[in-house]
Amino acid sequence: MERSYSHLLLFLALVSLKSFNLLCSAADPTDGFTPVPLTEANFVLQKPYNVPLNERYSYEDGIRHLWVYATDKPHDPSSNTQPRTEVRITGLDYSSGVWQFEGYGFVPNGTSGVTVAQIHGASHGATTLIIRIYDGNMRYYSGDLVATDLYDKWFRLNIIHDVDGGRLTVFIDGEERYSTHDQGPGDLYFKCGVYAAPRNISYYMESRWRDIKIYKK
Ligand SMILES: *[C@@H]1O[C@H](CO)[C@@H](O)[C@H](O)[C@H]1NC(C)=O
Ligand SMILES: *[C@@H]1O[C@H](CO)[C@@H](O)[C@H](O)[C@H]1NC(C)=O
Repeated sequence: MERSYSHLLLFLALVSLKSFNLLCSAADPTDGFTPVPLTEANFVLQKPYNVPLNERYSYEDGIRHLWVYATDKPHDPSSNTQPRTEVRITGLDYSSGVWQFEGYGFVPNGTSGVTVAQIHGASHGATTLIIRIYDGNMRYYSGDLVATDLYDKWFRLNIIHDVDGGRLTVFIDGEERYSTHDQGPGDLYFKCGVYAAPRNISYYMESRWRDIKIYKK
């Protein structure tokens, strides 16, 4: 009798430990968010204005490849910005609420000095968030380190933008890695791909993306 009672206690202890583990591992950046339906029409491509899209972009087996060269032209003849090949999420511009970008990204070794994801628009300045890769490390603009050692592997990127709370949170592989204030409300939208930084740019820049999703609360 006494013996089976202690077995029962051990069993209960193991069960509660197990549910505790499940609770912890179940926490996900997308918890409490609702996916926004996307079609290919929501994915608008920007690329150097003087080359055909298929020389800077391909979409096969669910994977978008985007690449650009440091010597490429800007996306528009009247622009003097750095070269880019980027997906601009269209039709979902936001100016309030809580929004989230999710995508699986891949940056090949050698690509450096490049924005791979951004939130365009802000009250002050052109962007709310710039996520760059320098030498395999992910940085907030050219400053704070977000994550290290990302070359040649798929990583899951989640960006939560709480416009009302003025807060940005960046997750890599489901783990919170960085949080900061935003730049105030504006005409906001998500982008990903390759957009050359002002400095320290590799000649060739490439990123790949799959399973891009947008969520909101
Ligand atoms: C990237 O390539 C360079 C040059 O080939 C090599 O030295 C380095 O170890 C590579 N880095 C990774 C993370 O594979
Ligand atoms: C850019 O290059 C300069 C000179 O090599 C270096 O000092 C600086 O740390 C680099 N910046 C980044 C963000 O890698």
